[in-house]
Amino acid sequence: AKVAIFISGSGTNMAALLYASLIDGSPYDVVLVASNNPDASGLEIAAAEGIETFVHSHKGHSRDVHDAAMEKALLASGAQYLILAGYMRILSDEFVRRWESRILNIHPSLLPKYKGLDTYARAIAAGDSHAGASVHVVTPELDAGEVLAQVRVAIRADETPDSLADRVKFAEHQLYPRAIADYVSRGYNPDYLYDRIRALAL
Ligand code: GRF
Repeated sequence: AKVAIFISGSGTNMAALLYASLIDGSPYDVVLVASNNPDASGLEIAAAEGIETFVHSHKGHSRDVHDAAMEKALLASGAQYLILAGYMRILSDEFVRRWESRILNIHPSLLPKYKGLDTYARAIAAGDSHAGASVHVVTPELDAGEVLAQVRVAIRADETPDSLADRVKFAEHQLYPRAIADYVSRGYNPDYLYDRIRALAL
């Protein structure tokens, strides 16, 4: 399968996905890395591996205009799936509907807990024994789509949001490539295809 990855920042999850895709037997290839932030350091990592990159700053553009530019690059790349990896823009409802079931995201909490921002501080403040990360299908409602896979990370007694974030990142880098590989492979599962066809027929 061909996947595109949207990033806004350091792109460490993008790098994990990219290098996993370079291992023999990967069921997905990265065909595009795109960003709304010209300074996203992940763009250079992708370019170094010969992956096509695209940048379109959101500054000075409406959401619709910015989304349209990103979607044009996405379509030109031939990607079948869109993977969000620290992409800090909310996609318009229309965009998400056009790509229904084909946009995935990783969120640094054990969803449905702690949607939105500051997930580490909120988990520590609540006295939770574990934080973690979730890979989910993107729907118009923020961080609310079907959860595909999760990883748990123990919260230590002396934890700070930064120390916890470091370990959750390590865990995310293991989780995301595997979840994407599983998800794109599921497309070839006859039961899954049958469910999709039936859903479309209703
Ligand atoms: C990750 O923690 C992810 O869960 C969240 O944004 C962060 C992206 O980090 N959605 P990076 O740019 O992949 O390093």
